[in-house]
Amino acid sequence: MIPNEFIDDLLNKVDVVDIIEEFVPLKKSGANYMACCPFHKEKSASFTVSPTKQFYHCFGCGAHGSAIGFIMEYQGLGFQDAVQFLADRIGMTVPKQAGQVNPEARKAHKQQKQTLESTTSAAADYYQQQLKLSSRAQNYLQQRGLSSEVISHYGLGYAPDDWQTLARVFQPYPSNALVKTGMIINKDEKYYDRFRDRIMFPIRDGKGQVIGFGGRVLDKGEPKYLNSPETELFDKGHNLYGLYEARAAIREAQRVLVVEGYMDVVALAQFGLGYAVAALGTATTAGHLRLLMRQSDHIYFCFDGDAAGRKAAWRALENALPQLKDDKILHFLFLPPEHDPDSFVRTNGIQAFEDALIHQSLPLSVYLWQTLTQHIDLSTQEGKAELIKSASPLLGKIKAPALSYLLRQELSQKVGIDEHNLAHLLGQEQPKQQKVKAKSYHLPQNTFRQPPVMSLAQKQIRALLINPQWAVYIDIPDYLDLHGEYACLAALAERIQASVIPLNVGAVLELMRNTEFEPVIQQIIHDYLNSAESMQAGNEDDCETFKQGMQKLLDSLKSQQIDALKRKLQHGLLSADEKQLLLLLLSPSKPLSNQL
Ligand code: UTP
Ligand code: MN
Repeated sequence: MIPNEFIDDLLNKVDVVDIIEEFVPLKKSGANYMACCPFHKEKSASFTVSPTKQFYHCFGCGAHGSAIGFIMEYQGLGFQDAVQFLADRIGMTVPKQAGQVNPEARKAHKQQKQTLESTTSAAADYYQQQLKLSSRAQNYLQQRGLSSEVISHYGLGYAPDDWQTLARVFQPYPSNALVKTGMIINKDEKYYDRFRDRIMFPIRDGKGQVIGFGGRVLDKGEPKYLNSPETELFDKGHNLYGLYEARAAIREAQRVLVVEGYMDVVALAQFGLGYAVAALGTATTAGHLRLLMRQSDHIYFCFDGDAAGRKAAWRALENALPQLKDDKILHFLFLPPEHDPDSFVRTNGIQAFEDALIHQSLPLSVYLWQTLTQHIDLSTQEGKAELIKSASPLLGKIKAPALSYLLRQELSQKVGIDEHNLAHLLGQEQPKQQKVKAKSYHLPQNTFRQPPVMSLAQKQIRALLINPQWAVYIDIPDYLDLHGEYACLAALAERIQASVIPLNVGAVLELMRNTEFEPVIQQIIHDYLNSAESMQAGNEDDCETFKQGMQKLLDSLKSQQIDALKRKLQHGLLSADEKQLLLLLLSPSKPLSNQL
């Protein structure tokens, strides 16, 4: 069993629209997306995906569910594998619980990981000690302006100038763990330390565990920085240098800054700017972007002012496009060509740097248009055509609806072609045509069945599925005897209340998967979706109806139970406990649900 909290968290982080779009081309239609259903043959689209509900549904065949449900159906995977599939793409680790995989294998794997982790930790400790013993290394860091506080905050160290210095710490040397963590290199049957005579920057994961190192030469030498290779612990695409150390500062500043170099991160911290991080000697990947977006809504990139920095910034932008969200803001700051953040703060001070960051950085959209148009003459038709050609693949990558729309509009203004015709040129759906087409997306009204007659309990369950936040209005006294749909409603409310994050419809459905109530819920959803009623979130009036519904339901449960107990009483079958219960039920009714 995978814990419910993990499923909630997962469904909160993946976007059902992104997931489905990878397999089925979706078209925006009002608040939802539509497509021809992948689960049955059809000519006109009746498959809809709701981004707010994180839920898909086909009016044609009735298929419906969450992102997990979609992957199970579409990929033919079991529940666990579907969860794993989704977790992998956003870099979450599925918690494994006892009895799930071969316990022996799991234990061995865990032990192996712990061995690797203690190896990198011990190496980091050793390098830190060695720094204290090397005046040459200390001088170097001092000359770079670093205080002992910052050196210790980042755990900087020194790898002595020796081929097998780690043999002093690790016995036996060589060992499997040293090879697997990339600390030693095996060449021609000989083993030697990867890092020799270098300033060591330990790289930590989100939990603070050292997973790898970057090492800088003290004098001139090649390569200037040497990094640990990718290992079982060290995943360069999903970790950032300095993120662990920066977390408090990111929260406080409510922004995160991405710079190019380890030294830049440390130098900025020396000057009091603690919210900087750096990629690990690689480009900024989509995985990094997702990691960054989880830290803050405001992400700043500051790349070096040279040509390499400009190139790195553009790559970061390209990788960011598909990950953009309308509520996340990306900025790009370009320093003068002779500077990187480290040299800039040393020359101009931290205030000048932060001022530049806040006031002179370009929002992603401005940077995008500036770059695309810098060598183009937009007063000519040729120039406009060139802009359309270069912008089109980039705009096509953006999934954030508002941003995507605004950028298209901007392009349309720049080239002087109205949106309708521009969309045609870009080979994309445009707003006007969508409206016309939208007709064929909906089946004629009369093909819908009337909503089936529902019991009050079913109606309440349905309302709760669509408005999980209403679970706070449910308080069923535990002395009431719950059965069937009542028990289902209570269980549903209890599970929603237990969740620490607000749940969407998809997540609520997943909560009930594999429980005794799943069939009841599936039936309600199925009947409901096949009716003409839309799956709209309720307004205040609906909420009032829901509360009254709860009161009616509790009253009727109560009177059912009173009747049953009275019948028993007449036959002289009432136990002492039941007598007590009857008295309780008959006592002048204080509202049963104290929230009402
Ligand atoms: P830089 O060459 O800009 O270094 O490389 P820097 O941060 O300014 O360092 P100092 O000031 O010269 O000490 C930026 C980043 O690129 C990666 C490292 O991650 C480095 O922090 N890099 C650079 C390498 O991986 N290998 C190299 O040889 C050079
Ligand atoms: Mn530098």
